[in-house]
Amino acid sequence: MIFLGLASNYTALDTLRHSFALGDKSDYQNLEKELSRRYDASLDHLSLTFSGRSAIYLALKSFMEAGRINKGDHVAINGFTCHAVLEAIKKAGLEPAYVDLEKVVSGQILPNYSAENLEKLIKKDKKIKCFILQNTFGFPVDIRRFKKVKEEHDLLLIEDLAHCAGRKYPDGREIGTVGEATCLSFGKGKSIDTINGGAVVLRGKEFELPKEFDKATLKRRSGGDIPRASWYPVFASIARGLAHIHLERPWLGLLLKLRWIERSADAKLSTDTTISYWQAKLALRQFENLKNSALREFFLVDNREECLKELRRHGYRLEESWYDVPVAPERYYKSVKYPEKDNPNAVYFSQHVLNLPTWYESKYHKKQVANAKKIIKAHELKGENNG
Ligand SMILES: Cc1ncc(COP(=O)(O)O)c(C=O)c1O
Repeated sequence: MIFLGLASNYTALDTLRHSFALGDKSDYQNLEKELSRRYDASLDHLSLTFSGRSAIYLALKSFMEAGRINKGDHVAINGFTCHAVLEAIKKAGLEPAYVDLEKVVSGQILPNYSAENLEKLIKKDKKIKCFILQNTFGFPVDIRRFKKVKEEHDLLLIEDLAHCAGRKYPDGREIGTVGEATCLSFGKGKSIDTINGGAVVLRGKEFELPKEFDKATLKRRSGGDIPRASWYPVFASIARGLAHIHLERPWLGLLLKLRWIERSADAKLSTDTTISYWQAKLALRQFENLKNSALREFFLVDNREECLKELRRHGYRLEESWYDVPVAPERYYKSVKYPEKDNPNAVYFSQHVLNLPTWYESKYHKKQVANAKKIIKAHELKGENNG
């Protein structure tokens, strides 16, 4: 069987390594050193964080304390994103400005906004002071064009690496080495995955870690959080086994009820807690082994529900596509009050997108993924996918 979620990016060895990992302070420090080297920032301008959203929040607060953004200003973000990004912006007292996805000449919609769409929005919305690039699924944007817009309009850039750690822009630079801040999420299914956690890196001397964030007194994840993060890959591998007899949903329901697992979108934003030592050890190992491949493949299909049903009949569990609404997950979408009329490409994309995993390595699994692709191709939107 092929899965998108349920820690299917973990091999049996990864699962064991994860659940029985032990770490100490030196692992934590070594991960910070790796971030410093990789993203070219000094150690006192970066920190490991509780989650990706905490990292984005801290970067925004740092910009505010440096006087470069003020309360009520707007942050331009991908029109197709995760609620976590929005949460960080709101908590900082700022507002999101959604930028619609790029549609190329052939009519194809891409999973990121273009520099041209950003510039159009800036001309209408003078409160935009900062923009976030997330390089959705690991598909990189044309950074040179963004650099031009950034300089012309004096904007700050946050590179959100949740989907794209280790990937490169078309001009050869590594993602995370261009903006004023680099934010990582180590949440489930992300490029660096220790079930939860993150990191913020401030690049350039102008910005300091915010005052409310005291690295010296940070608590490490503790209590219920640690067994939860440790055992998730085991719970998920049981769920994958149970999927063969269609019992994975009751199992996951039970785990949620017992609060032994949490939904990815429900990770918390915290500024007084950080990841544990063993998570730092695993994250460092993943950094050392990062492959330069996309996190997920994507396709636009005419009728997603039908296509997923057919895939399910053939043993594929691909329901957890990112994202099935413009600001996912769906259970929070109504409260977002998303401006659908201004973002037709993002709305259309979210209604038709389907993902395929890129992490399966065995010959057998690769063949299964290739077979899934054949099913998807029969449903794929052809030519102009402009709805
Ligand atoms: C693009 C993007 N950025 C940031 C995040 C935040 O991650 P976290 O759940 O670690 O707060 C997510 C989470 O799904 C995401 O998809």
